Amino acid sequence: MHSNSRFITSNQTGIHDQLHDLIQRRAASDYLKPIAPSSRLAFNTALVAWRETHKSHIIIDAGCGVGLSTRRLATLHPDHFVIGIDQSSHRLSRHVEWSGDSPDNFITVRADVVDFWRLLHEAAIYPSHQYLLYPNPWPKKHHLARRWHAHPVFPTLLALGGYIECRSNWKIYVEEFAAAVTLMSSITARCEKFLSSSTPLTPFEEKYLASGHELWRCSLHLPATGSH
Ligand SMILES: C[S@@+](CC[C@H](N)C(=O)[O-])C[C@H]1O[C@@H](n2cnc3c(N)ncnc32)[C@H](O)[C@@H]1O
Repeated sequence: MHSNSRFITSNQTGIHDQLHDLIQRRAASDYLKPIAPSSRLAFNTALVAWRETHKSHIIIDAGCGVGLSTRRLATLHPDHFVIGIDQSSHRLSRHVEWSGDSPDNFITVRADVVDFWRLLHEAAIYPSHQYLLYPNPWPKKHHLARRWHAHPVFPTLLALGGYIECRSNWKIYVEEFAAAVTLMSSITARCEKFLSSSTPLTPFEEKYLASGHELWRCSLHLPATGSH
C-alpha cells in the first residue's frame, strides 16, 4: 500500500515550555466537568457486554476510530474483554476490512473517553491494559492542553493503572507523554522508536507506515492507585 499522509508540522521544536507547570496544576486540582448521560449509557452497555463474557480483565482502546485495533486486540488477548471508545459515530459505523472470524470478546461504544475514564475510576474498575493509539496530535503550541498528557483527565487515566501504551507519528507528542508520566507518577517513562514487525494495529498506523513516517511509542506499567 502506498500512501501520502502529510508529516506533522508544528511551531514546537521540543517539549512544550509550559508542560511542567500545567502538569503541576493538573496534579493539584480535581476535574469537575459533569459526565454526559450518553457516556454513562455507553459505559453501562460496555459493562453489561463485558460481564456476559465472564472475562476477568478489560482492555481499553481509547479513541479507537473505526474499531479495527479493538478487534485486533481482542484476537491478541482472547482472555480479556476489549472496549473501544470513540466519540465519532461516523468512524464507528465504518466497517473496514472485517474479514475473517470475528472474536466475541470486544465491543465498540460511542462516548467521550474523558467521561469513560472517570466512570471506570468511579466504579473502581481497573483495566489491565490501556491503549492510546495515534491520538489527535494537536500540534500547534497553543493546543497543548488538548493533548491527553496535558488534559485535566490525565491523573485519572494514570490512577487506573495497568499496561499503558501511547503511539504517535509525532515524536514530541510521545516525548511529552513520557515526561508527563514521569512527573505525575513514581516511574521514569521514555519515548522510543516503534518498529512495527507485524500487521499494523490501526488504520492510522498503516497509513503512516505506508507514507514512510517514523513511529514513536511510550509504554509502561503502573499500579492502579485508585486515587488521583
Ligand atoms: C487520529 S484518530 C486515530 C484513530 C485510531 N486510534 C487509529 O489509530 O486508527 C483519533 C481518534 O480519537 C477520537 N477521539 C478524539 N477525542 C476523543 C474523545 N474525547 N473521546 C472519544 N474519542 C475521541 C477521534 O474521534 C478519532 O477517531
